[in-house]
Amino acid sequence: MSKTAIIIDTDPGQDDAVAILTALGSPRLEVIGISAVAGNVPLPLTTQNTRIICEWANRQDVPIHAGCAHPLLRPLVTAEHVHGKTGLDGVPLHSPTMPVQEEHAVDFIIRTLRERAAGTVTLCMLGPLTNLAMAIVRAPDIVGRIKEIVMMGGAYFEGGNITPSAEFNIYVDPDAAATVLGCGAAITMVPLDVTHKATTSPARIAMLRTLPNRAGNLAADIMTSLERLDVQRYGINGAPLHDPAVIAYVLQPSLFSGKRVHVAVEQGSELTLGATPVDWWGVTGKHPNVNYLTEIDAEGFFALLASNLATLP
Ligand code: RIB
Ligand code: CA
Repeated sequence: MSKTAIIIDTDPGQDDAVAILTALGSPRLEVIGISAVAGNVPLPLTTQNTRIICEWANRQDVPIHAGCAHPLLRPLVTAEHVHGKTGLDGVPLHSPTMPVQEEHAVDFIIRTLRERAAGTVTLCMLGPLTNLAMAIVRAPDIVGRIKEIVMMGGAYFEGGNITPSAEFNIYVDPDAAATVLGCGAAITMVPLDVTHKATTSPARIAMLRTLPNRAGNLAADIMTSLERLDVQRYGINGAPLHDPAVIAYVLQPSLFSGKRVHVAVEQGSELTLGATPVDWWGVTGKHPNVNYLTEIDAEGFFALLASNLATLP
């Protein structure tokens, strides 16, 4: 079976780490490269964490590219309160030795989309959309060459997680989000409306601990750290696994359901900056620009994570 070629753009980030490990463990994915962006923690740390995660998977072959250090127009907002000062709370971190490529992430995205056959590369966006927006502004010709953008971001029925009305990835760079959502490429959005239905639980974490390898236990440790925070802070019964849902959708879209709708981004109001109004009932008459996911088979999702994590060292 031919592999699905993907680029992962990421701001690790505890849930990013589980997503990247899941992708690297899948025999059905070709991870062409990973581009780091500022988000959960500043760029130097998201880049270093990407190296650490690839070394956990013994995948020093995967090219890592550092990208944009701050949003297109706004100061960077980070999320150490969730992911810790390192961005990877919950697990011991080593000093990575694998290199970072000289080529900037924006150039890497443009070059790869121009070099690969049109319609063959899926972009898995796990953080703020700054790198991709910059690539689109610099090289509009790449839009028609993208197979699909699968992006973790947005919220509508669920409400926001960084402000009452905005999800973090969109909030950090709403202008980049508007550029991507308006570019015309095929887009699937993985918003809080669906990720909040795929939360960790002691039983699901225990299932990962039965895996005989280090990666399974690393993922379990990360989830335990995430879960502790979310249960204490928000009183919910487990931690949403946001970014792994992007990889799960690429691998098994049948686990999800949603609707093609028009989604916009608030770029002006300080009160609702980064909000993603979803035209669920088509009242604006605007052309639907995204496949907006709202439902997930949570048990199937965790089984998929486990089966791919199990192949790692
Ligand atoms: O709102 C959740 C998203 O913001 C996830 O991608 C998480 O890693 C943070 O980047
Ligand atoms: Ca992320």
